[in-house]
Amino acid sequence: PVEERVKDLLSRMSLEDKVGQMTQAERGNIKNLDDIGFYGFGSILSGGGSVPGDNSPEGWANMIDAFQRKALEAPLKIPMLYGIDAVHGHNNVYGATIFPHNIGLGATRDPELVKKIGAATAAEVYATGIRWTFSPCVCIARDERWGRTYESFGEDPEIATMMTSVIEGYQGDLGKPGTILATAKHYVGDGGTALDSSNTGNYSLDQGDTRISEEELRKIHLPPYKAAIEKGVGSIMASFSSFNGVKLHGHKYLLTDVLKNELGFKGFVISDWAGIDQISPDPAKNVREAINAGVDMVMEPNNYVRFTDTLTAEIKAGNIPMSRIDDAVSRILTQKFKLGLFENPFTDRSYFNQFGSQEHRDLARQAVRESLVLLKNEQVLPLKKDTARILVAGSNADDIGNQSGGWTMTWQGRSGDIIPGTTILQGIKSTVSASSKVDYVKWPEADEAKGYDLGIVVVGERPYAEGQGDKMDLSLGDGDRRAIQNVCAAMKCVVVVVSGRPQILTDDLPKMNALVAAWLPGSEGQGVADVLFGDFNFTGKLPISWPRNMDQLPINVGDKTYDPLFAYGFGLKY
Ligand code: IFM
Repeated sequence: PVEERVKDLLSRMSLEDKVGQMTQAERGNIKNLDDIGFYGFGSILSGGGSVPGDNSPEGWANMIDAFQRKALEAPLKIPMLYGIDAVHGHNNVYGATIFPHNIGLGATRDPELVKKIGAATAAEVYATGIRWTFSPCVCIARDERWGRTYESFGEDPEIATMMTSVIEGYQGDLGKPGTILATAKHYVGDGGTALDSSNTGNYSLDQGDTRISEEELRKIHLPPYKAAIEKGVGSIMASFSSFNGVKLHGHKYLLTDVLKNELGFKGFVISDWAGIDQISPDPAKNVREAINAGVDMVMEPNNYVRFTDTLTAEIKAGNIPMSRIDDAVSRILTQKFKLGLFENPFTDRSYFNQFGSQEHRDLARQAVRESLVLLKNEQVLPLKKDTARILVAGSNADDIGNQSGGWTMTWQGRSGDIIPGTTILQGIKSTVSASSKVDYVKWPEADEAKGYDLGIVVVGERPYAEGQGDKMDLSLGDGDRRAIQNVCAAMKCVVVVVSGRPQILTDDLPKMNALVAAWLPGSEGQGVADVLFGDFNFTGKLPISWPRNMDQLPINVGDKTYDPLFAYGFGLKY
């Protein structure tokens, strides 16, 4: 049994071996491959966009197997566990299936579908030799000015709680081929931070302070963690944010008393990217406080030499009890045994053919269809496939990078033709009759919007991630607004919003004949056309309140003066 194997191994480990297991290094920062065996890293990660030169499944498998061989050269032969942010499919690897971001999956309210997405993602991740994803983000986004809103399943805990089904998809029968370890993140209250202005006068929410009562924290932000633990989640990531002024990375009450003791979490707590360094300016104090608070493995992308030295010194000085270290290491080893890493440390290359497979793309296309929310329809939808002349416009109609959002190939994501798949425009073209003529003009002037029978204007946001997406104004851009005005003045028009969160469009709404929220659909834009042209009806419901104007933010269902443009849970059919 796993427990005995852990005990036995632990009894043979030196202090240095234990410190190594508690360390996670970043692949790009490992100067000398021999460091892997020398320090005995418990884990290596790829940060967003940190990819090998050959960014194919084979390129990854070769790199990771080489790392693993180094890890296994050490006397105790403890395999390292590779981790990555596969948060909407295996989104760093070229050719992967890219699923809708969580906000769109929240709109589906279909936990079975999301479980299948977890299993498909796991198969693609496993194919590349990786056995751990830093997903799902179960944050409850309470203020859509936050740059991580699209990583949230919605503003109310009911959806994130139900979508912890994705963990069952990732982990399956953990240890069987095609299964990977999941991470519920970011514990806890990351989506509830207060708007803050630094002395530069810039407002931000990301990595901020959640200033609410413990009662509210438990009611709004804790429920998905309970559900994740019930589903056996193997790891939980601490949040960069603070709870009433105390950094989560040093919050013993929340990490140990609540998470481990009260909720019974038996997996391990991983810190966020250099997260412990934010506790104070003193590295020794940070290591001491974080580990004593309950962090088990430290994501140390910058300086693993300093970290391992500091942790060793703190233990030797008696500032961290050996029992805490043994507990942390046991938790990490337990998950490695459960994963079957000791038996099968290397890549199972028979999974290559599952990577970006047609089956997974069909599943993603289904997810896109189910994620769409119909907000307005003056009897234009479903569209007729034999419409003679169609004008497609807007900045997000033909941009697979924009429709995939942040955490796609790079951390921040990128506009343009960055991954294989279908744009919404391509989806429309392949859906209409051979006799229909489809033109695309990004931002048509009034005279260019003449002579058409129908307009489809696909507007929205450009990619961003984390704090770089904190935005105080969610109005549509000028070019997209002009496109809506010009197209909708000239013909019947459907507006599709491709964005990670609601956009302010109240003034232009009367001009639109139909309005659809498409979120960040990912690589299978065809799913949008499937529903617009009547092959499937709309089933999505808003996972987040749609505000009339910025003055209403933050706005959440249940608020006293709740008066959104479209309410949480709203969604029409045709
Ligand atoms: O998993 C992420 C986290 O969500 C944000 N900081 C970096 C981590 C690893 O890339």
